[in-house]
Amino acid sequence: MKDFPKNPGRRMLLKAIGGATAAGAATSFIPGCGSEHKQKNLSFQEIPHSLDFNHHLPQGYSADILLSWGDPIVDNIAPFDPKQLTAQSQLQRFGYNNDFIAFMPLAEGTPAERGDIHYQSGNSDRGLLCVNHEYTLPHLMFSGYNDEYSATRGVSAEHVAIEMAACGHSVVEIKRAGKGWQPVLDSPYNRRITSTTPMQISGPAAGDKRLQTTADPSGTQVLGTIGNCAGGKTPWGTVLVAEEGFGGAFQGDPDKIEDLREARNHRDFGITPHNRNLGDYDRRFDIQHEPNEPNRFGWMVEYDPYDPQSTPRKLTSLGRFQHEGFTLACKPGQAVVAYGGDDDEVQFIYRYVSKEAYLPQDPAHNRKLLIEGTLYTARFDQDGSGQWLPLVFGQGPLSRKNGFHNQADVLIDVRRAAALLGATPMDRPEDVETNPHNDCTYVMLTKNKSRAEDGVDAANPRARNAAGHILEIAPPGKNGVRDHTSDQFRWQQFLLGGNPNAENPLERGAYGQQSSYNISSHGWFANPDNVAFDPLGNMWVATDGCESFGFHNGLWAMATEGPLRAAPKHFFGCPQGAEACGPEFTPDGKTLFVSVQHPADALNSTYDHPLHRWPDNKPKLPPRPSVLAIYRDDGGEVGS
Ligand code: FEO
Ligand code: CA
Ligand code: CA
Repeated sequence: MKDFPKNPGRRMLLKAIGGATAAGAATSFIPGCGSEHKQKNLSFQEIPHSLDFNHHLPQGYSADILLSWGDPIVDNIAPFDPKQLTAQSQLQRFGYNNDFIAFMPLAEGTPAERGDIHYQSGNSDRGLLCVNHEYTLPHLMFSGYNDEYSATRGVSAEHVAIEMAACGHSVVEIKRAGKGWQPVLDSPYNRRITSTTPMQISGPAAGDKRLQTTADPSGTQVLGTIGNCAGGKTPWGTVLVAEEGFGGAFQGDPDKIEDLREARNHRDFGITPHNRNLGDYDRRFDIQHEPNEPNRFGWMVEYDPYDPQSTPRKLTSLGRFQHEGFTLACKPGQAVVAYGGDDDEVQFIYRYVSKEAYLPQDPAHNRKLLIEGTLYTARFDQDGSGQWLPLVFGQGPLSRKNGFHNQADVLIDVRRAAALLGATPMDRPEDVETNPHNDCTYVMLTKNKSRAEDGVDAANPRARNAAGHILEIAPPGKNGVRDHTSDQFRWQQFLLGGNPNAENPLERGAYGQQSSYNISSHGWFANPDNVAFDPLGNMWVATDGCESFGFHNGLWAMATEGPLRAAPKHFFGCPQGAEACGPEFTPDGKTLFVSVQHPADALNSTYDHPLHRWPDNKPKLPPRPSVLAIYRDDGGEVGS
């Protein structure tokens, strides 16, 4: 999502530590995370910073517009016509504002012929593209709205129904066709998950009285998922979908809620009387009618894309906050470790460790691993050490004295629990993901303009952080074999976003061993959001916010080890108004999928008078969020 309201109630800034107040100079950079792995240099011809109505790629690369909002995902329905769109029709079409992408391989042949399981096949020619649809923009979807404000307060019942059907998630089979890719519209796997799809609630908070509503006295069944930003994949073939900005879907006044704990909880997630009017049409989105309904959102969701009839489940074990995503670090025979961030100013980083071990040959066993385990939050100490702090009811301050009555309370109010444990408030955590090549974990921190000068710390070293930064976490171990279950870790700054030549030291970026010499004038970026690692271990960062620095959002790629560590090159640029999300490689590294979200989302840009009409550029079609499949014209690996 492009922007979020601040949390006025939560100001947990630490004191300045160790003089690490300016960019770069006082920040500890050490060369590499310790791996002997040396990545191959990225050889593509860098593209320039620019800002226009097109997408941009290096010479020798092509992009298919694979799926756009409104495209059919079933056979035998009419092409997209925005003026004819109904909620029923939207259920059979690709959703709006594509974000996270998972490519889940499909093996060729019958199960008997294959002798293996789809998700273990590593097939890079055919698979399921599993895509989040984070939120809707009615003023760019429908005719008749003058601006974003009128469209979010005064939408009609029919438009709300279409929006509900356009959010959530899509599963679409795709296959290679010639050099590029195309959707398989008659595939039995194709599926939409929306804001009304029935889901189960699992884990320690399932059934808790704070999750019970008029429609669901059991507290275990919920309709739909909201604010689906990024996510993750498991090695047992399921997909994780994050619920991030869910508060914006709820209307009502927390001050009128009698239960003060619940009022604080709703306020903390941005529920105000001025939010959208979805509750006028579906009463569960009005907290004056259903004060517990928001507690049923803000979780991670796990589902099986290979079974189109499967019921998604919300994983309360991973806590309730504005989830950007959760990504896994798995080793056979050991506990599963998952990392995630809470995308809000001065919120926290989390880690989950499963109770039981991951067993590659036992899928039924593995499907329980995200149900039972321990959630932790991170404290980043000034000396480069760090500690994972367990979020367990009855331990330390997580007691009745502080309003926690059971583990469900800890998980529903996990932000408050993490703050009580002394977790480090971060500059809007986005993706947290482990590079399999060096087994270190990277934290995207997108920005935090509200960080005060006396509130900086070693891990968040810049006041009014406009450009964001990336941290590197090294669990104990070496040479790409690290113990992610250890409660201790080392950390360091990987890079600071922004222009490395900025005059103001607070705005100055720092890349490549603190030098700007390794990158061109187009190699710098701001506002890291999503991240992916290619098969060679190079890091690919997607941005959300570069337009405020004068150029498009896009993708920047860099090594994490060796002489070009943290020295980015610019690979992809979005059309104006859009952010880049969800980079995802096929297992062979020859295709890179990327989401272009909210194209033409700019001041005074509406359906009737859009800034541009990317990607179709046809007078009767509005700008459409789209997923691109990017590949090298000579068939080689992307980037190398
Ligand atoms: Fe939806 Fe965290 O960006
Ligand atoms: Ca974002
Ligand atoms: Ca995001």
